[in-house]
Amino acid sequence: MNTIVSASILSADMCRLGSELDRAAECCDHIHFDVMDGVFVNNISFGIPVLKAVRKHTSMPVDVHLMITDPYRYVDAFADSGADIISFHCEAASDIRSTIEKIKAKNVLPALAVKPDTPISEILPFIDDLYMVLVMTVEPGFGGQSFMHRTLDKIKELRRYITDHHLEVRIQVDGGINEKTAPLAKKAGADTLVAGSYLFGAEDMKEAARLLSE
Ligand code: DX5
Ligand code: ZN
Repeated sequence: MNTIVSASILSADMCRLGSELDRAAECCDHIHFDVMDGVFVNNISFGIPVLKAVRKHTSMPVDVHLMITDPYRYVDAFADSGADIISFHCEAASDIRSTIEKIKAKNVLPALAVKPDTPISEILPFIDDLYMVLVMTVEPGFGGQSFMHRTLDKIKELRRYITDHHLEVRIQVDGGINEKTAPLAKKAGADTLVAGSYLFGAEDMKEAARLLSE
């Protein structure tokens, strides 16, 4: 599978969001949009009005990462505001199956996310219905953290399962991705890389994105 690079705008300059999106459009494949509610994670980011503004500005696919409790309740709002992919956490959802069905009914691609210490077995019962599994490689909540190497075994385990079962599910990694950790994650089996501080903090974003996808 080709590598997808998804630029996490959590690390973008929010006063210049339009030009930050333009910068990402030149060298990245997707926009990663982190929604935090201050309950599921210990931080609050941005939500629906900002997603609508992003949708108006860019034609890039927008990958919405919900770090919120009760994601089922908000599927329609995020789908109607322009999400192309919706990821939600299995640790947060009371009914994972219905949430996936609700996302699919809105013609949005469903993805299930796991925190660094949540085993893959939690998502396997749903994997046939997913576009992607998001393996968090840091504790969700903040940008700029260091990649947790212990998540590599989980990525490998997931890649093995997907290959053995002839599935086409993508594996996304999120947290601490840079030119050093991206090759490790890809070697373990990841094909979709989220990067925030590495891309938006780079002087030359094009070169940084090239190093991730090469
Ligand atoms: C963290 C978010 C990430 C974050 C990654 O909870 O889900 O998407 O933006 O940031 P970096 O790439 O700086 O680790
Ligand atoms: Zn994220």
